[in-house]
Amino acid sequence: MRVALLTISTSLINGQRTEDASGNLLENLIQRPPLSAELTARAAVQDDIDRIAAILKLWCDSGAADIVLTTGGTGFAQDDCAPEAARAVFDKEAPGIAEAMRAETAAKTPLAWLSRAAAGIRGKTIIINLPGSPKAVLECYTVIEKLLPHAVAILTGEILQH
Ligand code: MTE
Repeated sequence: MRVALLTISTSLINGQRTEDASGNLLENLIQRPPLSAELTARAAVQDDIDRIAAILKLWCDSGAADIVLTTGGTGFAQDDCAPEAARAVFDKEAPGIAEAMRAETAAKTPLAWLSRAAAGIRGKTIIINLPGSPKAVLECYTVIEKLLPHAVAILTGEILQH
C-alpha cells in the first residue's frame, strides 16, 4: 500500500506555523496495521484550489500512490477549499467514506459535522480529505483505516469478485 500526504495550510506555508503536526501524525498512522503503508510523497500547500488540484492530479496520474490523504481546509473559513479542489479532480465521488468519518466521530465530537470533507477516486487512486487538527486526524483516520484495504484491493483489481 502506497500513501501520499498533502497538508493544506496557508499559515504553514507563510511560516506563521512551523510544525506540521497533523502531517507528522498521519505519517505515523499510515504505517500501523491494517494499512502498514509506505509514504511515497508528502507536501504542504496553501489554501489555493488550483495549486491543490495540480498536486492531486500529479500524484494520481503518475501512479505515485494508492491513496492520497489531505489534511486541513475542509471547514467554513473563507479560504477553505480542500473539498472543492478534490472534487475538481475526482472521476467518481465516494461519499460514504466522508460520511463515515463524520457520522462515527460525531458521537463524541459534534463539531465533526462542520467538516465538509470529500472523498473520491481519480484513476486508480483514492483521494480523501481529512480535517486539519491532529485530534480530528486521529479520530477520522481511525474510521477510514478499516475501509481502505478492501477499497484499494477492488480499485486496483486485486479483488475481482466477491
Ligand atoms: N472531526 C473530528 N472527528 N474531530 C474534530 O475535532 N473538528 C471539526 C471538524 N471535524 C473535528 C472534526 C472542526 S472544529 C472543524 S472547524 C472542521 O472539522 C474543519 O476543520 P478544517 O478546516 O481544519 O479542515
